[in-house]
Amino acid sequence: MIIHDLGELHGDLLIYGGVYSNLHALRAFLDIARVQNIPAQNIICTGDIVAYCADPEACAQRIRALGGPVLAGNCERNLAIGDDDCGCGFDENSTCNLLSRAWYAHGSAQTSVESKKWMAGLPDRITFTHAGKRYGVIHGAASDISRFIWPTTPDQDIENEISILTKQIGAVDIVLAGHTGLPMTRQIGSTIWHNSGAIGMPAHDSRPQTNFSLISENGIKNNALSYDHHGANSAMRGVNLTQGYDQTLLSGIWPSDDNLPIDMRKPNLHFEQISSPKA
Ligand SMILES: [Fe+2]
Repeated sequence: MIIHDLGELHGDLLIYGGVYSNLHALRAFLDIARVQNIPAQNIICTGDIVAYCADPEACAQRIRALGGPVLAGNCERNLAIGDDDCGCGFDENSTCNLLSRAWYAHGSAQTSVESKKWMAGLPDRITFTHAGKRYGVIHGAASDISRFIWPTTPDQDIENEISILTKQIGAVDIVLAGHTGLPMTRQIGSTIWHNSGAIGMPAHDSRPQTNFSLISENGIKNNALSYDHHGANSAMRGVNLTQGYDQTLLSGIWPSDDNLPIDMRKPNLHFEQISSPKA
């Protein structure tokens, strides 16, 4: 396990993840960092640079050039080893799994060997202290990079993950996680579990804005990211990524919610049946 300790950080921090090859969103996010004068070492990525959208290599290069801390997501791990599957942890027969064949094939083909080598060296855990609190950054969960910790995941399950993480990196006050694409904050005992959501894909909430978080002296605040989502949609259509997530950029609704826990699905939504998208 690669653990990267950043030491003590000062000033405001930006937390982002789920870039998902969405260059338009990444540009808008980095513009916010520039306007707020936040240095690269305080801009922390929770993984999944490459996924659903059109521009994997440009996103990887932009993030490398920034030089801030970047955690490996399952997408980076699987691209680095040449796997033919995203390793997202979707159920075998789910729509999300079927759709992943197209976008992962695009992501793998369009990501350079050099970027994949860079991904292979990314850490599995990042730790740092900020304003007297110790943070641990992970992708999905401590037990499994691809485990989904949802807003409705039972407290006991999250407690178990915190316990595993404590054995790996020592005690933390705050866990920063990614992978689900959904922003959330849970207080579990004395520990906060926070997910900043994704900047590259809406949070299945009927709006095109995406999500990132700011950590300041006032605590952790999740923020909406407005960006040129029409441009990102056009870019996807331009490379034939038209299996459903292109429309999500406009509607804010995922192509399916069969990957969500039953208590989080939206029963009033009717999803198009997708059986065999072309890779
Ligand atoms: Fe992930």
